[in-house]
Amino acid sequence: MSGIQGKVVAITGAGSGIGEATAVHLAERGARLVLAARRRDRLDAVVDGITARGGTATAVVVDVTRREDLRLLTDTAVDRYGRLDVLVSNAGTMAVSPFDDLRQDDWDAMVSTHVTGLLNGIAAALPVFRRQRSGQFVNVGSTAAHVVKSPQAVYAATKTAVKVLTEGLRQEAGPDLRVTLVSPGLTHTEGVGRGAAPDAAATMTRLRDEIAMPPSAVASAIAYAIEQPPGVDVGEITVRPTAQS
Ligand SMILES: NC(=O)c1ccc[n+]([C@@H]2O[C@H](COP(=O)([O-])OP(=O)(O)OC[C@H]3O[C@@H](n4cnc5c(N)ncnc54)[C@H](OP(=O)(O)O)[C@@H]3O)[C@@H](O)[C@H]2O)c1
Repeated sequence: MSGIQGKVVAITGAGSGIGEATAVHLAERGARLVLAARRRDRLDAVVDGITARGGTATAVVVDVTRREDLRLLTDTAVDRYGRLDVLVSNAGTMAVSPFDDLRQDDWDAMVSTHVTGLLNGIAAALPVFRRQRSGQFVNVGSTAAHVVKSPQAVYAATKTAVKVLTEGLRQEAGPDLRVTLVSPGLTHTEGVGRGAAPDAAATMTRLRDEIAMPPSAVASAIAYAIEQPPGVDVGEITVRPTAQS
């Protein structure tokens, strides 16, 4: 199956920002979607918007740090649509802070969301993809994995793990599966600065409002990787605002 029309795509973190923009973009091109996040009301609003425009989407409340939630996500795709073609692992938190603040709960959240969450998605989707002899992982990393900027070290470390896990998975995927890393730069979403230390939050939101690209730019990059023919594996896409250093 090539292109986007008819593909079954599960997206984590689909209630806002990049995940929401990706859902809308793919729905407009005929994908059938299973959208996941923790906040049911946000997911329902995205599903309602898509279905009102003639698209196909359903919502599943998922916390990616829980293995069984990811299995529920992939089971929902298979039960409802008969298959799963793509898992977009996008859920994330940018609650950055200086080390001296000792915000260990935020460190834990970044590790469990970006690293454990990604692994939970791999464990849930890989057996489905192997059975089908087709499937694609699209993992959302960050340019923070390329350039470490204080006070983003923990965030950058987890996104570096996303990069490394994606490359290792690609090497083991074999000829039937595709594995893609999409690394966005500063993107205009509500998640920028949310939960961050006050100084960092102020800097991030100011920079976001000055130079960030729209989340649709990342959605287009993800769609490009998905729409390639089955034998073509887009390994990595980095997309950032021109003004980002
Ligand atoms: N915006 C940027 O500048 C930027 C740059 C590079 C990379 N990224 C990455 O892009 C991804 C999306 O971020 P965004 O900018 O679109 O921010 P966002 O609007 O805050 O979106 C994050 C999404 O993840 C969900 N989420 C968070 N923790 C979760 C969990 N444990 N289980 C399930 N869902 C969870 C949130 O929904 P709930 O709270 O309802 O669960 C939300 O829908 C993240 O991985 C982020 O690190 C963003």
